[in-house]
Amino acid sequence: MNDVVILGIETSCDETAAAVVKNGRDVMSNIINSQIDIHKSFGGVVPEVASRKHIENISIVVETALEEANVTYNDLNAVAVTNMPGLVGALLVGISFAKSFAYSINKPLIAINHMHGHIYANFMEHDSIEFPAICLVVSGGHTSLLLMEDINNYKVIGETRDDAAGEAFDKVARFLGLGYPGGPVIQNAAEKGQAGNLKLPRVLLDKNDYEFSFSGLKTATMNMWKKLEKTGGQNVYDLVAEFQAAIVEVLVAKTALAAKKHNAKSILMAGGVAANSQLRNEVQNAANDLGINAYYPSLKLCTDNAAMIAGSAYHDYLNQKFASLKLNAHANIIKL
Ligand code: KG4
Ligand code: ZN
Repeated sequence: MNDVVILGIETSCDETAAAVVKNGRDVMSNIINSQIDIHKSFGGVVPEVASRKHIENISIVVETALEEANVTYNDLNAVAVTNMPGLVGALLVGISFAKSFAYSINKPLIAINHMHGHIYANFMEHDSIEFPAICLVVSGGHTSLLLMEDINNYKVIGETRDDAAGEAFDKVARFLGLGYPGGPVIQNAAEKGQAGNLKLPRVLLDKNDYEFSFSGLKTATMNMWKKLEKTGGQNVYDLVAEFQAAIVEVLVAKTALAAKKHNAKSILMAGGVAANSQLRNEVQNAANDLGINAYYPSLKLCTDNAAMIAGSAYHDYLNQKFASLKLNAHANIIKL
């Protein structure tokens, strides 16, 4: 069979990204223009600023992705773009660019759900992932547990009732003045502290289900900090170490519970929070205890990128699942 070369475009949040991927796995280029430095001063992503930066950067990012992959327009089989979930204004920049580009080079357009992209990143780097699998999806906007029968068939068996895990990391980091994005800065600060010196709740840990809740933990962390500031006994490193441990413990326990109950043969992790080293280590340990394999993408494919978008479009290409030029953006995941 001929090679299938796909250009992927991702602009759902604060990364303008383009990548070229061959046959769903071979990453020929993976360009990410991060806006973190711009949003940092606001303590979070400002949607309109994100859209404006995407529109400034998208052409050059796509051009660089094609150059680095050493491909011409003719070599491309399709153009894939994230159309949900995300910031609508940001998504629209990528979608409009991808539509015009696909139309002008007369190649099909493929719409990709960003979260599928995150999950698919596992399959780009790991062979022989066995099913059924439990996938822990943890990003800035999502926290869910999926039961996967195969790469394209899965159902959501649990979700967060309020904040996503990444959102909790970001909000607590902002409150403590540690910076943005919260995940990496908390991970670094936590390494200097000790979990257990302060005590934060493991919300819903004792419930025998797959529901999560991080809003209360976030508030408890903030309240504890205010109290510590008053008494003068504050140690931000111990606080974030405990906060991270509280999130990781619940995520790992529910993932392991789901894996056990569903006789999973593998555990997968997906989304930006899956970059967290404590989470990776503890999921790995839990999988070892269950005698099954744990998988997570390398850091480059774990946080937002376009290679996962171009990669997951491969199966749609083989199935001729193409989008029309009426393609629109959606803030949340919708079934089409
Ligand atoms: O998947 P992602 O890059 O974008 C979304 O689709 O949301 O995830 C971003 C989230 C942010 O909340 C960020 O703080 C978190 O992932 N994150 C981390 C780490 N790296 C990124 N959370 C914990 N530990 C990390 N090392
Ligand atoms: Zn993401």
